[in-house]
Amino acid sequence: MGTLVHNIGQLWMAIPGERALGGVEMSKLQPIENAWFRIRDGFIFDIGQGVPPELNSGEQIVDCEGGLVMPGFCDSHTHVVFADWRPEEFLQKIRGMSYSQIAEEGGGILNSAKKVGQASPSILFERAKERVLETIGFGTAAIEIKSGYGLSLESELKMMRVIADLKSWAPIPIKATLLGAHALPLAFKNNRQAYIQMVVSELIPAAAAEGLADYFDVFCDQGFFSQQETETMLEAALKVGMRPKIHANELGLTGGVQAGLKYKALSVDHLEHLGESEISLLKQGQTQPTLLPSTAFFLKIPYPDGRRLLDENLPVALATDYNPGSSPSGNPWFVWSLASIFMKFEPVEALAALTLNGAHAMELGTEHGSIWPGKTASFIVLPSLNSLSMVPYRFGGGFRYRVFIKGEEWLA
Ligand code: NIG
Ligand code: FE
Repeated sequence: MGTLVHNIGQLWMAIPGERALGGVEMSKLQPIENAWFRIRDGFIFDIGQGVPPELNSGEQIVDCEGGLVMPGFCDSHTHVVFADWRPEEFLQKIRGMSYSQIAEEGGGILNSAKKVGQASPSILFERAKERVLETIGFGTAAIEIKSGYGLSLESELKMMRVIADLKSWAPIPIKATLLGAHALPLAFKNNRQAYIQMVVSELIPAAAAEGLADYFDVFCDQGFFSQQETETMLEAALKVGMRPKIHANELGLTGGVQAGLKYKALSVDHLEHLGESEISLLKQGQTQPTLLPSTAFFLKIPYPDGRRLLDENLPVALATDYNPGSSPSGNPWFVWSLASIFMKFEPVEALAALTLNGAHAMELGTEHGSIWPGKTASFIVLPSLNSLSMVPYRFGGGFRYRVFIKGEEWLA
């Protein structure tokens, strides 16, 4: 029984991976050449180099044709539960409007919130399911999903219950984040405090009572929620055990990193705007900086200074931010190329940021993100590639690859 994966030209991320790697460690990772490994019951249980062992009776074989093997992607930041796409805003963007201008006119997040408000849970589930299946097809083996298009007690809980249903259904692990404060609903335009109060005294306790959220998120940014408002909500969330994982500094230097570090966030995500004080705070804490370059690409905003964060030895993660407004793509292969081209990530640094560090940015690093005995056998075989640079170079993932989830080939 079990499977022997052999004829691997280069096996990448064959490390225990008990913790996220700092940028300097990421740059030093080396592959095992001419490798093999064995799978039993969906887990890796043995790894070796050179001549593979004799086959056990009934054991299956995966021939990697001398190509590369790497762990499945661990996408630690997505918004895949939404009712519909927003192609009309794409046209507005082409015609010159910015993300903030579209948002100010009731488009953007508020547009998605309106659609989520009207959608039934089963429609939301079916559409999100399709997107999760799409991401698995790209090789994603673990994913985080946020709410945030509800913007009312009822709709946010509806979204969180959909994520709970996705967790029970999905063949890959899902972490659920309550994005209670993604935008201020129009009805609260002149009464910000009332919305924040609703999040603190109704939404957070209700989600906690149903056990719906692993983490809590706020869009702490220019035109959205201030540092002070963010801290008020993070404090309430931490009290019920929801660790922060927040949107910070996408549109400005607005204190998101400071709020995140103060409340021991698991990650602070986006960081298109970074100052020296943010970098020195990150160096003092355990919070993982998470970069989402497909958002910078799609919104035509400056990319974060990822190179600097790596050089500071920070445990950077990369994720897709898959959502209908700022990153309508869940393609980690593309993120890999953007990180290389616009943020000067070496191929191996981006690999670690998209796998192991992404896994740790959702507390799944002991089971996912590397190829090592005891870890889940979710991996990608790239039979036609013989060097890691080929991956970001041939951007978009158009080359041949095979995805394995828990030891089984994903053939959907
Ligand atoms: O991560 N930054 C905030 N939220 C999303 C965008 C959501 C939307 O426009 O629908 C993001 O970029
Ligand atoms: Fe996001």
